[in-house]
Amino acid sequence: MSRKPLIAGNWKMNLTVAEAAALAASIAEGCRNLTDREVMLAPPYTALAAVTAAVKGSVIQIAGQNVGWEKEGAYTGEISPVMLRDVGATMVILGHSERRYIFAEDDELINRRLVGALNFALTPVLCIGETLDEREEGSTFKVLERQLRRDLEDVRPGQAERLVIAYEPVWAIGTGKTATREQAQEVHYFIRGVLTEVFEKKLAQSIRILYGGSVKPENIDSLMAEPDIDGALVGGAALKSESFNRIIHFS
Ligand code: PGA
Repeated sequence: MSRKPLIAGNWKMNLTVAEAAALAASIAEGCRNLTDREVMLAPPYTALAAVTAAVKGSVIQIAGQNVGWEKEGAYTGEISPVMLRDVGATMVILGHSERRYIFAEDDELINRRLVGALNFALTPVLCIGETLDEREEGSTFKVLERQLRRDLEDVRPGQAERLVIAYEPVWAIGTGKTATREQAQEVHYFIRGVLTEVFEKKLAQSIRILYGGSVKPENIDSLMAEPDIDGALVGGAALKSESFNRIIHFS
């Protein structure tokens, strides 16, 4: 089963509109002629339209960093899936650990957002991951399975084809500590097993599972060599075109 690798950049709460457009243009330049991999950029909401314009005609897909579940309405501070599509986004990051731990988003809320995103034809990149305490007490698999099952409730198999999962151990995000390739592969294999139970084998084999957490030019090649690592979700190293372009061009 071949899964097309996906390299995704999560810009978090960084960059003005002008800075974002310039970075996006430089990344687009670096991935001209790429056909064997996909690239996604998730700018802050304010820069979505400018980034969409800057990458026009390239292979880059644009994503929101979160999304509401209704088309419109009284939800102060939220952005709807229709609004994301309107500015050119086709994908959306959901359940990022910063949403879970800084903004107290729980699995029920993440599930609502995810079902909403799918209903409006956005491709979700669902992030899951254990904290350092959870890893040390040996509950990594239990935590990941719980997150997956709750976040994916009511997702129909026909919709799940578009789904992307990102395994992001919380202890590896922004810390410079990457999971070893063996640690990541072990978890990705486990996640694919849970997806097989939630959906079915063929579908689970086609869903891409990205690794995220201190991915950089120095570790991307070895991570991508693992059979169940289908790409990367990159934070810090996605904010500079040289490092992100190198990650895109992993070998
Ligand atoms: P990092 O962030 O690459 O800076 O560790 C990854 C993420 O939060 O998606």
